Amino acid sequence: MDPDDLEELAVKLQGRTVGGWGLVQLAAGTGFAAYVMWAGILMPGFRRVPLKLQVPYVPSSAKQVENVMSLLKGRSGKMVDLGSGDGRIVLEAYKRGFRPAVGYELNPWLLRLSNYRAWRAGCYGKVFYHRQDLWKVNVSDCNNVSVFLAPSVLPLLETKLLAELPDEARVVAGRFPFPTWMPTTNVGEGINRSWAYDIKTVRQTKNKFEGSPE
Ligand SMILES: C[S@@+](CC[C@H](N)C(=O)[O-])C[C@H]1O[C@@H](n2cnc3c(N)ncnc32)[C@H](O)[C@@H]1O
Repeated sequence: MDPDDLEELAVKLQGRTVGGWGLVQLAAGTGFAAYVMWAGILMPGFRRVPLKLQVPYVPSSAKQVENVMSLLKGRSGKMVDLGSGDGRIVLEAYKRGFRPAVGYELNPWLLRLSNYRAWRAGCYGKVFYHRQDLWKVNVSDCNNVSVFLAPSVLPLLETKLLAELPDEARVVAGRFPFPTWMPTTNVGEGINRSWAYDIKTVRQTKNKFEGSPE
């Protein structure tokens, strides 16, 4: 459209009010644009995940990454980030000696970004990012797990992790604590706060309060 046409259109529209039908069209258009943005850019790959389990991407802050790592200090072995975003936690875990360091993520854009970041850090092919639904990943061979997900999904995650993880595992939750688990320790303040949970202690505490045999 050339500038003259645009000017003509602007003159035609001038002075017109938006009627009821116009408002409906505007609302539908805005809703559709928001849906395209949500489904195509923010949450692609999430079609099969129930809406109540869909957690959007919000990257950990540098301080939060540091806090998560400090709660894993002195540990080794496999490290998994459930919902790995742009891969920053996994990459940092690899740099600190965790092998293998693995991220599970459904958003293909974020997986590409993760691999790009790994490549830039000279770690391409050394860290692993899988396009997989975290709810379908079996974590029974993981000693170190980190999660930064929405509070609404944490009760269900508690059940899954408790059913699968070995006693020696430590889970670190960034920003939001697990609702019923007793943390071993925590570090940081405000949005950077992180909590560490030793699975053996979580099981023992749960058994004590729920009265079931060890
Ligand atoms: C709050 S972000 C945290 C990202 C990263 N762990 C960090 O700390 O920077 C949560 C991530 O989990 C991913 N996610 C949410 N539900 C998922 C699922 N069912 N399977 C795999 N990834 C999921 C989202 O795409 C998002 O990137």
